Amino acid sequence: MPGTICIVDDEIANLNALGATLTDEGYEVCKAQSGMEAMKVIQTESPDVVILDIWMPQLDGLEVLERVRRQFPHILVIMISGHGSVDSVLKAMKLGAYDYVEKPLDIEKIAILVRNALHQRKLEEEKRKLEEENLNLRIKVERHSQLVGSSPVMEKLRQQIAAAAPAHSRVLISGENGTGKELVARAIHLQSPRRENPFVEINCAAIPETLIESELFGHERGAFTGAVSRKRGKFDLADGGTLFLDEIGDMSLAIQAKVLRVLEEQQFVRVGGGKLLKVNVRVIAASNKDLRQEIEEKNFREDLFYRLNVLPIEVPPLRARREDIPALTRHFLKMHAEEQGMKPKEITPGALEMLARHDWPGNIRELRNQIERIMIMVPHALIDVDDMVPFMPKEFEAKRNSQVGRPDSLRDARYAFEREYIATSLRENGWNVSKTAEALKVERSHLHRKIKFLNVELHPEH
Ligand SMILES: Nc1ncnc2c1ncn2[C@@H]1O[C@H](COP(=O)(O)OP(=O)(O)OP(=O)(O)O)[C@@H](O)[C@H]1O
Ligand SMILES: [Mg+2]
Repeated sequence: MPGTICIVDDEIANLNALGATLTDEGYEVCKAQSGMEAMKVIQTESPDVVILDIWMPQLDGLEVLERVRRQFPHILVIMISGHGSVDSVLKAMKLGAYDYVEKPLDIEKIAILVRNALHQRKLEEEKRKLEEENLNLRIKVERHSQLVGSSPVMEKLRQQIAAAAPAHSRVLISGENGTGKELVARAIHLQSPRRENPFVEINCAAIPETLIESELFGHERGAFTGAVSRKRGKFDLADGGTLFLDEIGDMSLAIQAKVLRVLEEQQFVRVGGGKLLKVNVRVIAASNKDLRQEIEEKNFREDLFYRLNVLPIEVPPLRARREDIPALTRHFLKMHAEEQGMKPKEITPGALEMLARHDWPGNIRELRNQIERIMIMVPHALIDVDDMVPFMPKEFEAKRNSQVGRPDSLRDARYAFEREYIATSLRENGWNVSKTAEALKVERSHLHRKIKFLNVELHPEH
């Protein structure tokens, strides 16, 4: 293990003998013959280890030790003591010396001490680095799992998460692409009694049909060509914790049958294995497909749907909570700045409003990517409307002046129609919600929810 060793002794014979041995061992060696010289050499050579004679004229070893400990606390110091100077040795150890050797010098012993000292330093450094990385990772994970937004829609979502978390029941999260379904699943896990145990996710859409069974349940060695060793599946890995089955709408019917069995029995067998394995796993599933529709089209098993859909949570699209867009934008501006080590950029109210008006078919993920792009491409520190236009989706320019655009899904068309219909009825009823509810033959509370969900403006004339 290479390293730099500084030897400090006023006896040239010792310096040379020690120096020669340590050089032979492959270390860089620097020497000093007095305390004063030692401080200079340590400053310029920044050694890993200092071997320091206690007794020297003028600045003695103990004083040098004290200074080194103060100025270069990471350097390890091995003291050389004369015969019978117990007091000095004690003092040196108290001052933080790594170890000591007695005269006459046993050079072999010193070589071993140096090796150990360097080893310890390396371990300490690794530990420190690991702790630092862990801390950074934790901060990053926390920031990434933060649910930003204080709109009524978001508050309701938070309440649903808080209510679902402590229960052990299965949760089915639905919502469009990029709305934050995974974030909701993680939030439920983190607020649940299982939080200390693993959160394991599997994206059913991303894994080839032939591999998904072994991904979910694991396999025994030799179960199929290429199964060179036993592998634990996600159900196994999530034992005691939460398994997040993402994009369950993409599971084949055969796999659905197998998953259903595990959910019913909480046990399964590995591919190519015979032993039943028992697990305690809470399943949270998510899908951006309309599963009821998939059931009708015979793509999804109805029995599995009811097994999974114990606590349904719908994550609303971003356009149903536009008032969160400014807070989300600032959150992403800050996050990207920190990740890139840049200064965070500011954004003008006009530019924020422009973002808030867009429909965000890709939801929060699209907004997040957009902010990242703007952060990188706009050179100055204040982002204004004109800076953003080139980075906004093409159709945005058209929508900039008129809000009417053709909805690109049946769901959006329904939302658009309902919004318009409710707004018109409200206007006709003098913006009185109770009267409007009566006219539309719905409960007042239901209409209220609709108004909030669809973001219908009340009193837009004012
Ligand atoms: N409320 C929120 N506050 C802050 N960031 C959010 C919020 N919701 C989602 N995000 C961020 O938006 C991105 C998309 O979220 P997530 O992956 O959870 O969505 P999803 O619904 O699982 O999407 P997909 O259907 O595409 O898998 C992530 O980067 C996530 O951190
Ligand atoms: Mg997802």
